[in-house]
Amino acid sequence: MSESERISDLKKEKNAVILAHNYQRPEVQDIADFVGDSLGLSLQATRVAADVIIFCGVDFMAESAKILNPNKKVVHPEPGAKCPMAAMCDVDGLVELKKVHADAKVVGYVNTTAACKAQMDICCTSSNAVKVVRSLDSRKIIFVPDENLGKYVQRFVKDKEIILWPGYCPTHDQIDPEKVTKLKAEHPGAVVIVHPECRPEVIDLADAVKSTEGMIKFVRSSDRHEFIIGTEKELIYRLKNENPNKSFYAIPGAVCPTMKMITMKSVIRALETLQPTVEIDPEIMEKARIPLERMMDIGRGD
Ligand code: 13P
Ligand code: SF4
Repeated sequence: MSESERISDLKKEKNAVILAHNYQRPEVQDIADFVGDSLGLSLQATRVAADVIIFCGVDFMAESAKILNPNKKVVHPEPGAKCPMAAMCDVDGLVELKKVHADAKVVGYVNTTAACKAQMDICCTSSNAVKVVRSLDSRKIIFVPDENLGKYVQRFVKDKEIILWPGYCPTHDQIDPEKVTKLKAEHPGAVVIVHPECRPEVIDLADAVKSTEGMIKFVRSSDRHEFIIGTEKELIYRLKNENPNKSFYAIPGAVCPTMKMITMKSVIRALETLQPTVEIDPEIMEKARIPLERMMDIGRGD
């Protein structure tokens, strides 16, 4: 029996669904019931009828699925798969910053721990950050933890002061203008699409700036045939599957090692044992649900 057949049998036996992020390994995307971006995965998590969610992504995504489904068993096959950007925001530091800017509202990227979310007014993802910040009546915004995303939002929201946190995604931050310019020279007809976690000087070179799901939609509806993809390389797996007649060029080095920690073997183990489950302090979970639900009410922005 193949690994994918084994997974399919176990899913039925355990009444489980598999949710996977767009950066997961191709074989993991293939066995998932739903593949999407951070917002799509949170929305999907609220629609699950099965008893068990096997979450193939990084720690904060699995936590969000649990926060939104406190009565379901959420299993994260590799609990060591922790997003380095989420680890850059500590709750004590955030509490201190809130004291310094007591008149500010706190917008937090979903790439944060549940404890940090419990300190926020509202969450956002890369697909709705501008819309979320615009929705607030406060003139002053604390934006954590992605400095690049915060700077991107500031381009569109001129009437608010955005206080930034020095966090970043190592995978997107290493995409430099030289890499993009070189690919553009090699493929002069290609459209450049980058993720808003990229540095401002990379954003300046882009034809479009999108979340991972936004990139999927953009390519689907575009009449162009070549695309330089400024995000984690595995998004190209889905792009190629859905658009076999279009060409995609990855940025060298754009790999998220933590996303790759989840393998077919770890998914099988998670389904067999239904361990390790995501556990969060109930009080933190209650508080963290509020900013997540506020974000979901706002919905997608791109
Ligand atoms: P999105 O899929 O929401 O665009 O997020 C990208 C990312 O870096 C998730 O960790
Ligand atoms: Fe975190 Fe960046 Fe990896 Fe996303 S791509 S999980 S933000 S390190």
